[in-house]
Amino acid sequence: MTVEEKLGQMIQPDLWELTPEDVRAYRLGSGLNGAGRWPGEDRRAGATEWAAVLDGFWQAAEEAYRDRGFRIPFMWATDAVHGHNNVHGATIFPHNIGLGAAGEPGLVRRIGAATAREVAATGMDWTFAPTVATPRDRRWGRHYEGYSEDPEIVHAYADEMVRGLQGDADELRTDTRVLSCVKHWVGDGGTFEGEDRGYTRCDEDLLRNVHAMGFISGIRAGAQSVMVSYSAWGDEGRLHGSHYLITDVLKERMGFDGIVIGDWDAHAYVEGCSDGDAGNAIRAGIDVLMISTKVKWQAVHGAALNEIRSGAIPMSRIDDAVLRVLRVKARAGLWEKPRPLARSLAGHGTVLGHPEHRALAREAVRKSLVLLKNDDRVLPLPRTSRVLVAGSAAEALSKQSGGFTVSWQGDDIDLKDFPSGSTLAMAVGEAVGADRCKVDPYLEHTDPAAFDVVVVAMGEDAYAEMLGSIKPWRSLSYAKLKPGYAKDLETLRRLRRAGAVVVTVMFGGRPLYVTEEINLSDAFVAAWLPGPDASGIADVLFQDAGGGPGHDFQGRLSFGWPATRTSFTTNRIPPHIPHYEAPEGEVLPTGRDAPLFPYGYGLTLAESHEDGLKNLGELPLDAEPRLPEALLDDITAIPIALRGDTTYEFRTAAEDYDPRPLRMDGPTSSPFLEAEPIDHLGRGDGLSLSFKGIQTFVYAQTRDGGFRDLRGYVASGGRLTFQVRVFEAPTGPFHLTCHDDYPQQPALDISARLAALPYGEWAEVVVPLSELVGIGVEFDHVDVPFQIWTEGRARLDISTVRLSVDVPAM
Ligand code: BGC
Repeated sequence: MTVEEKLGQMIQPDLWELTPEDVRAYRLGSGLNGAGRWPGEDRRAGATEWAAVLDGFWQAAEEAYRDRGFRIPFMWATDAVHGHNNVHGATIFPHNIGLGAAGEPGLVRRIGAATAREVAATGMDWTFAPTVATPRDRRWGRHYEGYSEDPEIVHAYADEMVRGLQGDADELRTDTRVLSCVKHWVGDGGTFEGEDRGYTRCDEDLLRNVHAMGFISGIRAGAQSVMVSYSAWGDEGRLHGSHYLITDVLKERMGFDGIVIGDWDAHAYVEGCSDGDAGNAIRAGIDVLMISTKVKWQAVHGAALNEIRSGAIPMSRIDDAVLRVLRVKARAGLWEKPRPLARSLAGHGTVLGHPEHRALAREAVRKSLVLLKNDDRVLPLPRTSRVLVAGSAAEALSKQSGGFTVSWQGDDIDLKDFPSGSTLAMAVGEAVGADRCKVDPYLEHTDPAAFDVVVVAMGEDAYAEMLGSIKPWRSLSYAKLKPGYAKDLETLRRLRRAGAVVVTVMFGGRPLYVTEEINLSDAFVAAWLPGPDASGIADVLFQDAGGGPGHDFQGRLSFGWPATRTSFTTNRIPPHIPHYEAPEGEVLPTGRDAPLFPYGYGLTLAESHEDGLKNLGELPLDAEPRLPEALLDDITAIPIALRGDTTYEFRTAAEDYDPRPLRMDGPTSSPFLEAEPIDHLGRGDGLSLSFKGIQTFVYAQTRDGGFRDLRGYVASGGRLTFQVRVFEAPTGPFHLTCHDDYPQQPALDISARLAALPYGEWAEVVVPLSELVGIGVEFDHVDVPFQIWTEGRARLDISTVRLSVDVPAM
């Protein structure tokens, strides 16, 4: 193979940034459809449309090698992470968190096999699943992609899912199985403060014994690819740049001989790399680079070619990568398989959402539900009950299904995407008959007294990845997470006042602090993210048609349930983790971190009907934080351009120029300042600023012009913090302050602190509010909680500005 041919196997563009002509010209080896990318931008594209588009790429690769005397088949990858979730009409299975609760590894193998058939039906070869993270912080936006906080469950499930998707070595060569990918190597579930793409701070024993277990079993089961994590670990920094963890540990020590694939543009996070240069990631051992846009993948291609030619990337490294890609293609039988459209299942719409697969999904939903409370044996409900269905999730397929469902965030789906889906309200109606069921999410038109029971469905809105992470300055209280969620608590309070019998079903990707909601419910079910068909939930809530007990609950918590608002992490050490000072078996969190319901908890109907089993009764509420509630709600401070933030706006002003907003969708250019949104920890959460030597202010101001009394923050030892990356240190004083009204408040000169930071590296500036008070800043009347200004020149990026206080321990 020529150098260009080899490099082509290492570049994997996204569907929307790739044409058959590109495949020919660059001799590309594979492509992917990122989440929420469909052929022709049509979210309803079916099996035939998918297979036809992929057939076009496949044919182009054949043409590319027409005169070569050998051929290298093309392959296609997707994120089929809970069923073939990106494709219209496919069966959606519960997200991994629910499967972990089901406690039945064999079920996962069957789900893997069904998913493989549906992926094959669209002409694809490879899925980026399973996620084998071991999430240890409930704030992480990908918490639901993990099976359990316990590495033993992750270990068992990874094995089964890989075998389900791939089958054995012979089955993998058939066109009913697909390649699997264990992800994200390694430590993604252990990042500090649950930040997505953040830093994992733990020693190597913990990294191996908690976070690597799914890789160990998945690879042993035959997983043909491993996706590297965006996250960083200790001194190694970003995983994508870690020769030690990728090459020394994964490839050499663990003997992994398949493809190490980089995550979506993740090479750009590596020191010395950029969007258009992946040299250090390749040297570290990444074999295939997943790249979002054509500009970027062409740039990476060009830069890598130069580095190979100059010897900066040794040919042995390229050969290792290509050998791995070809080996995996051979094991998948790609040289024998016909073009996508000619494969046995491809284009067969009937395979997508096949009745057997949907029945399996329904079974999985039933088995994944965890019964947390069943006082007075409210469940199972007779099918003759008159049922009112209330709550924000009563009719919300997106809350049921979570992220990575048709679209990336999964927050825009409805019954048009799932014509045969059912909301919880529909499933209940189906169980008891339409005439006995009424839906009224916020009890606006209904007297609960007219019903035997009220089923309240609540849960977070759908989210994926970093957008789903709970910011470190927020609490775990469901009612406080978003303004709308408090309405569910209010509904439950009203129902209690009305004396209603209440069964609450909670959807979501993580356990949250909901003790009051549990207390206000007679029965409480954790339903996780079951998917767009809630029938499996009704199967368990109701007796069978003959009035018999029907299906029982089987789920057990695979994550402990928090008893307090601030019990963010699981520091439980399971008994089987070696190298830990836990010789006497399991170490459970204590004090405020002791769970409300421990790992492994879950009632069954049978046992809650045994004589002598006590009601749960009132559970102790987390003592109110000492700070005033209003303050706690608002600890948030000033996220820059995070989706949905409506409180503050970033603006700029200068001598002789009127204030103007800084654009968050593109550059703001002016004679005094150049500004542009950048990605730091999340998409568009930072600003790049270039001050030009005229007195210039950059500040965050309340959008409504309102003033706030921030003295509570001062009294509670609050601080103003922001992340900064300096490219050109200020040429004069650089001021930081909070601002109320004119005249200008005194300000702190932080130029020396900025100048002392390492060039171009993110660092945090922390200014205790007491320091500002010390120079005379007043906090009783603040509309600008963050202001920087200088008369000099400076070039720096900022992100994650916030005012925060520690929530005092009780
Ligand atoms: C995610 C991966 C996913 C990839 C392709 C990334 O943002 O981290 O898990 O496989 O996108 O969609």
